[in-house]
Order: sequence, then structure tokens, then C-alpha cells
Amino acid sequence: MRQKLMVANWKMHGNLATNKQLLEAYIEKLSPLNYLQVVVCVPYPYLAQAQSMLQNTNIAWGAQNISKDAVGAFTGEVSAAMLKDFGASYVVIGHSERATAYCESDENIATKFMQAQTHGLIPILCVGETLIEREAGVMQMVVAKQLDTIINLYGAAVFANAVISYEPIWAIGTGLAASAEQAQSMHEFIRGRIAKLDQAAAASLKILYGGSVNPQNAVQLLVMQDIDGGLIGKCSLNAQEFEGICRAAA
Ligand code: 13P
Repeated sequence: MRQKLMVANWKMHGNLATNKQLLEAYIEKLSPLNYLQVVVCVPYPYLAQAQSMLQNTNIAWGAQNISKDAVGAFTGEVSAAMLKDFGASYVVIGHSERATAYCESDENIATKFMQAQTHGLIPILCVGETLIEREAGVMQMVVAKQLDTIINLYGAAVFANAVISYEPIWAIGTGLAASAEQAQSMHEFIRGRIAKLDQAAAASLKILYGGSVNPQNAVQLLVMQDIDGGLIGKCSLNAQEFEGICRAAA
């Protein structure tokens, strides 16, 4: 049985003072929940704060992006090794908010995925379709292409130590989550595609759902067989709501 994983994606929110309050509340409310792994992905400047507040707790931390390169003259970029310096253990890769706004190709995302793994970070690879693609019925094709870029470059075994987050773009920040059936169906498809190539990797792979998860819809989603947790945006900025979602994983 895969342990549930709940990841807070703070996106570009917070400051030193509000983060302190929020992390204190996380520690108080979430530390007792020992049936799941909790991770918080903070903006880069707050990695040191996350490290100093969360070390010696059972809450892990990470970032929301990394450079595809290891080191060098890449102004404004942050490397995987730099995240490791601050004790990070996870990193979000290929979030659609970045992929669209900063023109990240599937190949770029694949390189970042491997950078993360090479440096001992667990990549949380985001995949998902637009509303137009869903309405056209090609959502599986779209997600398959996103996965296949990595599979073709590095093989399916790399997913054994990775996390995939299915985030339908139409569900992110809209208040309109995918139904449990829609999410389960895509999660099953993702696991199946990897299982055809590597059964063990597929069985251990955690597949999260992200997109308008809240304390009300969390139970229906998390009870599904192939949904191993969530990637939570807005509701992770409120400790009580995030706790509600985490408790749903029980
Ligand atoms: P919301 O939970 O705000 O819809 O965001 C989801 C998301 O993008 C997580 O990465």
C-alpha cells in the first residue's frame, strides 16, 4: 500500500512573517498525522526559513522549479544542488503555470526531471490537459505525450522514485475540480502506461491529483485506488483548510 502524500504548492505567495505563522500552524496541526507524508514547496527565498522551521519535524520541504542545467552562467536560475544545500527533498517540475507562461517544452521538463533525480531530489512531474483538449476527447493522448518524452529519453524505471501529479489545467484555481471518476480514470491510464514497461516502477509510483482540491471534495478523490495524494494550491495557504484535506487522507 502506497503511503499518501500531500504537497502544498504555495506558488508566489507569502512573506517571512506570514510564512512563519503558516509553518507554525502546519507543525501544530499536521505533525500528528503520521499516516501521510506532508511536503511544502515554497518560493526560493524562503527555503532557508522552511529548513530552519521544519527540520526535526516530519514535514518535508521543496521548491517549485529548478534549472535544467547543473551549474554555470545561467542568470536567474537555481540549480538542483542549491536546493539540496537547503535540505529540500522535493521539487515541482513542469507545472502548467510555468509551462505556458515561460514556454517550457516537454524536452526541457524531461531534462529538469533528470537533474532533480541526479541530485537526490524527488521530482513531482505535473501533467494534464487543457479544457479544449478534454472536450475534444484527446486528454489521454496529451498526457501520454508528456510522459513519453521522459520514458523515451530515460526509460520507465525512473518513475520508481518519482511522483507524478495529474493537474488538469481547467481545474487549477477555478474551483472546478475533476470528478473522482475523471481523476481516477486518468491516474489509472498513467499507471497502466508505465506498468506496460516497468511493473515495479508503476506499483511504487505515487500519482497525485491537483486542481481545486478542498476539504469538501478531498475524501471522494483520495479514496480512489490510483490517487495517492494531492498537490494543493490555494487551500494550502490556509492551515485549517490544508489540515482538512490532509485528514481526508486517513
Ligand atoms: P489550486 O489548488 O489552487 O487549484 O492549485 C492547484 C495547483 O496548481 C497545485 O500545483
